[in-house]
Amino acid sequence: MAEQLLIDPQSTKAEKYEQLLPQVKSLISCEDDLTANLANTASALRMAFGFFWVGFYLVKDGQLVLGPFQGPVACTRIPKGRGVCGAAWSEARTLLVPNVDEFPGHIACSSDSKSEIVVPAFAGGEVKLILDVDSDKLNDFDETDKKYLEQLMRILEETF
Ligand code: SME
Repeated sequence: MAEQLLIDPQSTKAEKYEQLLPQVKSLISCEDDLTANLANTASALRMAFGFFWVGFYLVKDGQLVLGPFQGPVACTRIPKGRGVCGAAWSEARTLLVPNVDEFPGHIACSSDSKSEIVVPAFAGGEVKLILDVDSDKLNDFDETDKKYLEQLMRILEETF
């Protein structure tokens, strides 16, 4: 197992993702416990990009339940369709939110969160897991984040 992430701080965002994803894949490929893999993935994302909040919600008993994350404490349960995470679950697609105050029903776990990207992962065609990344800056996520975070979720799906 790689015990250290190697990310060139001078890289562009896309280059950082290109360096990070194979390392995450290698990190999680030798472990079959989902909690352990999500914990290391959240940490790797935080280490590479310094995200304000990054973590996972798991679909359990008809709700999203907080999983491994890095950042300030967060709400533990989110109903389907509620907030950005619940909307990404019910719509089964990535949601990019440049300004959380303009997203109807946004759940503010922290008033410092200004923009957000939420990416689902699937098992058997159903959403099983949600990645949520928050920034304390407006408009901090774009199509590059969407592209690579979706690739990351495909990597995680291989471990389910
Ligand atoms: N803002 C999210 C809730 C989760 S926290 O940001 C960690 C939402 O609206 O679903």
